Amino acid sequence: MATKERMTVAVKSLIILFWARAWSFDFRPAAAHQFTADGTVIELNDSNFDSALSSFDHILVDFYAPWCGHCKRLSPVLDAVAPLLANLNQPIVIAKIDADKYRKLASKHEIDGFPTLKLFVHGIPIEYTGPRKPELLIRFLKKYVAPDVSVLKSDSALYNFVDEAGKHFPIFIGFGLDESLIAEYGKRYKQKAWFAVADDVSEEVMVAYDFDKTPALVAIHPSYNEQSVFYGPFEGEFLEDFIRQNQLPLVVPIKSETLKLLNNDERKVVLTIVDDELNEKSLKLIKILRSAATANRDLVFAYVGVKQWEDFVDTFDVNKNTKLPKVLVWDRNDEYQLVEGSESLDDFEDQRSQLSLFLEGFREGRTIKKGISGPSFVGFINSLVGMKTVYLIVVLVAFLMVIQKLAKQGDEARYRRETQSEAQDVNAPSKSTDQRDYQPSDKED
Ligand SMILES: *[C@@H]1O[C@H](CO)[C@@H](O)[C@H](O)[C@H]1NC(C)=O
Repeated sequence: MATKERMTVAVKSLIILFWARAWSFDFRPAAAHQFTADGTVIELNDSNFDSALSSFDHILVDFYAPWCGHCKRLSPVLDAVAPLLANLNQPIVIAKIDADKYRKLASKHEIDGFPTLKLFVHGIPIEYTGPRKPELLIRFLKKYVAPDVSVLKSDSALYNFVDEAGKHFPIFIGFGLDESLIAEYGKRYKQKAWFAVADDVSEEVMVAYDFDKTPALVAIHPSYNEQSVFYGPFEGEFLEDFIRQNQLPLVVPIKSETLKLLNNDERKVVLTIVDDELNEKSLKLIKILRSAATANRDLVFAYVGVKQWEDFVDTFDVNKNTKLPKVLVWDRNDEYQLVEGSESLDDFEDQRSQLSLFLEGFREGRTIKKGISGPSFVGFINSLVGMKTVYLIVVLVAFLMVIQKLAKQGDEARYRRETQSEAQDVNAPSKSTDQRDYQPSDKED
């Protein structure tokens, strides 16, 4: 018995010892890699990759291929931003790995195109799909690594936070509001907006942020000089609507970035088309739009100048004879509605009351439905990410297929018997283009 017991103990300790060896064997080499965060881009390989991830709280990895053009253009950008990111309050280390050479590692990290940027926050990956210009890259990465909701304890902490946040994203600050009430949104909108709660702020802050009681949630759009206040209820749909609707400024200038934001919103768009967004008359009208937007939060108000984006405006049938500013309600897809008798906002008369009439007409359903001419809204967005290239390829493939077919028809009669199989031939090239989608490819900026 005793011997048996001793043996069991011996075996057990052997197992534990062996297990411990295996454990340390697995992990010691990781610890043995010494990385210095000196503001340069660290070149990784498959033997030190995992230890790099565990060595840094925040590490951005560029999965590149030596032959890819976009990777070559990105590389100097990363070199340039690396020292700046190393100096942040929350330093971000930049590393790169030849994902074409280390394919097993690349497939483990689900790399399907080059370059792919992944930010590992405490080892957890978030694919970085934001802009790649140096300044914007830094701005977006700062947002990615910031706490979901920052807790600010003084006026100066608040001013610092707003200052640091910059102008690119909307900022939500809860005054006298419990952090837990907005924590969910801080997480959900992590890559799109800043969230903070502030306590013990002075009267000066209340004036600056235009609220007169707490709790209050203030949404700020620094780049549009806009802010709005919400006094509750801080729960359910009410809170969610406020946060979602305030991802956009009250009145949205239509351009490529804001179109993408509009795509995430479900509301219909009151679109005002002016000749030039920047002239005096338009600025006056935008103010009127802003107050209408405040009173009609179930609609998004937007404007665009013919001068600023003619191609976009063209799809709403604007030509030389169109009376501007033209106003319509757009479903963000292929359809828009004109309101009978309120097709334009005459700038010689009171535009405020004309706009009220327009909205009244819309709400009462006195509208004329129209289809947009040209590519749909989705087409617009896609055209910004290289849809033209895709069309070109499709046209080329179709063209080649026609040529092929013609050549075939011109051939001897022995081919004629096989006309049935042509149907299959037609499928063949499209299949091969499908497959290309799944292979690592050159990613666009
Ligand atoms: C990986 O990189 C480290 C650091 O540059 C180097 O010491 C190591 O030899 C490399 N390992 C392989 C397998 O290339």
